[in-house]
Amino acid sequence: MSKKIKVAVLISGNGTNLQALIDACIEPNYPAEIVLVISNKPNAKGISRAREAGIKTRIVDHTNYRSREEFDTELSMILSNSKCKLICLAGFMRILSENFVNTWPNTILNIHPSLLPSFPGTKTHERALEAGVKVSGCTLHFVTAKLDAGPIIGQAAVPVLDNDTPKTLANRVLIEEHKLYALGLELVANKILKNKNVNLHREQDTVFKSLLNF
Ligand code: GAR
Repeated sequence: MSKKIKVAVLISGNGTNLQALIDACIEPNYPAEIVLVISNKPNAKGISRAREAGIKTRIVDHTNYRSREEFDTELSMILSNSKCKLICLAGFMRILSENFVNTWPNTILNIHPSLLPSFPGTKTHERALEAGVKVSGCTLHFVTAKLDAGPIIGQAAVPVLDNDTPKTLANRVLIEEHKLYALGLELVANKILKNKNVNLHREQDTVFKSLLNF
């Protein structure tokens, strides 16, 4: 079996992106393996997906902590113990403190359901439809202290249809998120295995600019 980068995945909900990563990791030559799945929500469906795949899970319920910093400190300790080299946020709906993010430079990947820098934050599909955009999509990026603004690893685009609702657009984007995340994690993990710099810059290393679907 080839050498693999240890990955921890952080979730809050359904975990379909987690499932896409679990499925990708099954492939013997895929350069990453999920060693731990953490949820801040005790009932997240993603936790059962992880258990079914035989992956170690932890619930770190943020409501049990007095502050964001306390929660993040606990998270950091668990992640250090897992020996993970990459942290994948997959529908993890907590903002991580600056301190946490700086402890893990060039390590945290996030999937966001818009073509950043458009529509950072929440309610992305509602806002995209309100703005009347004709193209939407998703972005895989490294996490920095500024929300949804770290270096972009890759993007995938989908058309916005005239009769779209936030739900139908979200579903179309989600299909692309799954492909993009699996591809992007493969790329970053391969870079680490080859001891290459994973600090992506636009000029230096644009990965796959866009997976156009129309
Ligand atoms: C995904 O659409 C993901 O991009 C989004 O939450 C959904 C989680 O779905 N994440 C964010 O909005 C983060 N800001 P999943 O639990 O089925 O992977």
